[in-house]
Parts: sequence; structure tokens; C-alpha cells
Amino acid sequence: MASIGIDLIAAAQHLKNGDCVGIPTETVYGLAANALDANACLKIFEIKERPTFDPLIVHVKDIAEIEKYVSVFPNQAKLLFERFSPGPITVVLPKKSIIPDIVTSGLDTVGMRIPNHTLTQQLLNSLDFPLAAPSANPFGYVSPTQAQHVNAQLGQKIKYILDGGECKVGIESTIVGFENNHPVIYRLGGLTIEEIEHVIGSCKVQLNNSSNPVAPGQIASHYAPKKKLVLVDSLQDAQIDVTKKVGAIVYKSYSDKIEKKNQLILTPGNNLQEAGKNLFNFLRKIDELDVDIVYAEKVPNDGIGKAINDRLFRASTK
Ligand code: TXA
Ligand code: MG
Repeated sequence: MASIGIDLIAAAQHLKNGDCVGIPTETVYGLAANALDANACLKIFEIKERPTFDPLIVHVKDIAEIEKYVSVFPNQAKLLFERFSPGPITVVLPKKSIIPDIVTSGLDTVGMRIPNHTLTQQLLNSLDFPLAAPSANPFGYVSPTQAQHVNAQLGQKIKYILDGGECKVGIESTIVGFENNHPVIYRLGGLTIEEIEHVIGSCKVQLNNSSNPVAPGQIASHYAPKKKLVLVDSLQDAQIDVTKKVGAIVYKSYSDKIEKKNQLILTPGNNLQEAGKNLFNFLRKIDELDVDIVYAEKVPNDGIGKAINDRLFRASTK
């Protein structure tokens, strides 16, 4: 298994050697490598068993760093970074040739992000290269929100995981790009549509799926646990399969239709932020429940609730 700790020097050394390291961010843990080293980035794809057509996000410490890697930096993109960075937003911009093609899957744009986590900020400050990092999970599975999640699945394949505790947001960054100078949201995430539109005006929302090749990572079946997950509007009205052992992920209170020990409550405090923080951990936990089917209840479709429902939908699509 990998070593887990807070040794920034060890983490930096592995990265300088061209190896991959698990890193914490406010959204989910990433599997990081030197973004300027094509061979190091190739290892990310191998370790995750990720198809090379699915581009990686490049993480940097501040806005000045972004200038080094993008050839066009529109004012609206700057405004977003100034307002929300470090924070859960990725902006897709035309790339400079210093970013290897493998990072962007051959696209001429690159997703740039400034993560909000003290340890990873310190790590980035100690390096003279940016970090390419997808979520640190096998391709298609649930994203990790704790160092132990990374270790459980990728620990055999990497040497070090920087332990930054539990991720505070728990849902990946929101991805924004520009088409004909107009902003487009490609992935719902930790930052809400409203927060983004408040800064740059109305955005087109074009969530990616298999028929939309711009960001192939957003295929319908993603974030999927091994267990069969059925998404319902409300458990109260849902038709439960009584011939099977069932469990549930519920929003704020237990349903009397299912045994309590098989239910996980996303937010007893009725708080969408808390629900987001628990979501991926619960999607992992259901794989350990002694049940055949898990029902998941949609959360209120406001703010970050839209991103939570998006992940629940993808997790329930096989
Ligand atoms: O919160 C996050 O963004 C986390 C942490 C680790 O930073 N990272 C993450 O990476 O979620 P990943 O690889 O799981 O998702 C990256 C997605 C790709 O699947 C793709 O949809 C989109 O970002 N993407 C990356 N580069 C792109 C580009 N040039 N154009 C369009 N979409 C891009
Ligand atoms: Mg991912």
C-alpha cells in the first residue's frame, strides 16, 4: 500500500521523479503528476485505467501561474478566478504548447484550476511545475474524499498520498469554458450556477455526455458504485422491490419503508453543503451494506443540490 502522511518534501520528491502522488483538494482527492511531463501524465491514465480521450485538469497555485499555460485569458475568466480562487472552479482556456497533448487529450484547450487546500497550496509552492490531476479513483468509480479512499483503490499502484483530511466540498469543481466568447458550464460542481452568473452574467449550461465530445469524461455512467442504485424523486412515493434486500441514501430523515440500519442520511441538518460533503463517502459505503439494491432520494434541486442530483443520476446509470 502507499504511505500516507503530511510529508510535503517526500510528496514533492516523488513528483519531481516523474511519479504520481495522491493530493487533497477542497473538492475531491486528485491523482497528481507533473503536468509538463508527458511520461508522468501517461502514468495517471495507466493507474486510473482511464481512456486517453478524457482530458486532465491542470492545478496551479495562483492566477499569475495560469498566464504561463494559456494563450488567451479572457476578462470573464480572470473575473471568475479573482472572485472564486482558490476554490472549486475549473476554467477551460486555449492552451500554450508547453502543456503536452496527452494532458488535454489532443484538444487545444486546457482546464485550469487553483485548488483551495493548505497542504496542496504548500506543495504547489514548492514545485516549479503545475500538477495535472484527475480525481484519484479508478475510471468510472466514485471520487475519493478521504486519503483512505485513495489508498483502498490505488494504494497498490502509487507510493505516496498526502493526507489532508476529509474534503470540505466533496463534489468536483464546476467546469466553465467559452464558446464564441460566451460562457458555457460543462460540469456542475462545488460552485453553483447562480454564483458564477452573478459574476459573469448568463451562462449556457451544456452538461457533457457521450454524445458531446467536448469533455468526454462526463459520460452518463460515472461516479458509479458497484451496487445497483435506483434514483427516485421521493422514497415515500417510490415502488420498493420487496423481494430484495434494500438500502437507501436519504436526504434528511429516515424512511419507514426500509430498515434503519440500511439507510444513510445525507444531512440530518437539512443543509445541502453537508449533503455534498457526505455524498461520495456514502456512495462508497453502500458497496459495503448487506443489500442488493439501494434507493437514493433526489435532494432539493437548488444551488449545489443540482450538482448532487447530477452525481446521483450518473451513479445510478449503468
Ligand atoms: O474538483 C476537481 O475538478 C477534481 C480535483 C482533483 O481537482 N478533478 C477532477 O478531475 O474532477 P477529473 O479528471 O475527474 O475530471 C476532469 C474533467 C474531464 O473529465 C473533462 O470532463 C473536463 O474535466 N475537462 C478537462 N479538460 C477539458 C478541456 N480541455 N475541455 C473540456 N473539458 C475538459
Ligand atoms: Mg473524475
